[in-house]
Amino acid sequence: MTTYKIALLPGDGIGRDVTDAAWAVLERAADIGGFSLARTSYPWSCDYYHQHGTMMPPDGIETLKTFDAILLGAVGWPAKVPDSVSLHGLLLPIRKAFVQYANVRPHRLLPGVQSPLKADAFDILCIRENTEGEYSGAGGRVHQGADNEVAIETSIFTRKGVERILRYGFEQARARRGKLASVTKSNAQKYSMVFWDEITQALAREYPDIEVTSYHIDAMAARMVMAPESLDVVVASNLFGDILTDLGAAIQGGLGFAASANINPDRSAPSMFEPVHGSAPDIAHLGIANPIATIWSGAMMLDHLGEKAAASNVMTAIEATTARGIGAFPGKDKTEAITTAVLSALD
Ligand code: NAD
Ligand code: IPM
Ligand code: MN
Repeated sequence: MTTYKIALLPGDGIGRDVTDAAWAVLERAADIGGFSLARTSYPWSCDYYHQHGTMMPPDGIETLKTFDAILLGAVGWPAKVPDSVSLHGLLLPIRKAFVQYANVRPHRLLPGVQSPLKADAFDILCIRENTEGEYSGAGGRVHQGADNEVAIETSIFTRKGVERILRYGFEQARARRGKLASVTKSNAQKYSMVFWDEITQALAREYPDIEVTSYHIDAMAARMVMAPESLDVVVASNLFGDILTDLGAAIQGGLGFAASANINPDRSAPSMFEPVHGSAPDIAHLGIANPIATIWSGAMMLDHLGEKAAASNVMTAIEATTARGIGAFPGKDKTEAITTAVLSALD
């Protein structure tokens, strides 16, 4: 029997609840599918930071490298540790070290779930660049606290980085409805975003079967609300993709529905699966976090591991659950009730 080694990083806040829920579903899906998942959990979090002075041990990346995949809940608890420390100490270094350059975020309506839009057709795949751009971490502050203080945060776009994320998007478009939207702000940002547009145009010549359109990020935000049916695959930089995918989640009916995969397409290191949402301190410990985003992310993990049938069973179970109205209305059902319903739909 095949066994996959999974590193579980529950992280902070609702991260623990939603990864427990997803793990229960994934284990059941593995039982049914005739394979097994071996989990090792690591308590790396803001509480861990308070005990050890770092978000993960110095050999954390080395440790994670030995796994087939990583399932993560959420990182961050601003009242305990500044976000600039916690996220740059755990989540962001994993994405970069493991070259998980494609952040794949599907947004579509689940049966029975109400979107704030009157859209009955909403199905887009956001491909977010995940290792560079606005999240380069390059910059600094001078004259701190003084009237003439200056803060600089440099976006870094490399030809290799832009080309590979766009290419990934083109391949996804080929497997879907054949449309690719490339998102920039090249009317205002005249170096990086013009560079991105040029690479988009060059690649478009290699993919004559794909209908390519470039949009500005502001217009794209409006389009996602006003004409989402005109979109298929949307490729965006790190920051723009971050913002568009919370918007995508909102259109799906809430942050508790949006799944995410940080993919290393070359498979030279593990990929990482996590919901789009964060640790939700406002509802942590209430038992009401929606686990569907994380269960869906778990299905993406099974798919990535090659367990296509099990992945599709989990998606069918999620859909059967929301179709019955369970987990479909944010705030109505407890985490446990939604998880139990998905488990029984699997059986
Ligand atoms: P958030 O996503 O945690 O919460 C935003 C709102 O959505 C809150 O009202 C929350 O209650 C609600 N929400 C989120 N997930 C939900 C779920 N599963 N079910 C029901 N409601 C849900 O965003 P935030 O408040 O800006 O961030 C909180 C912390 O999480 C910060 O430290 C932030 O940096 C971090 N964060 C981490 C990740 C990650 O680890 N990938 C992602 C986003 C934010
Ligand atoms: C996400 C989150 C992270 C990001 C934060 C917590 C650094 O918002 O995964 O969408 O911006 O990538
Ligand atoms: Mn985000």
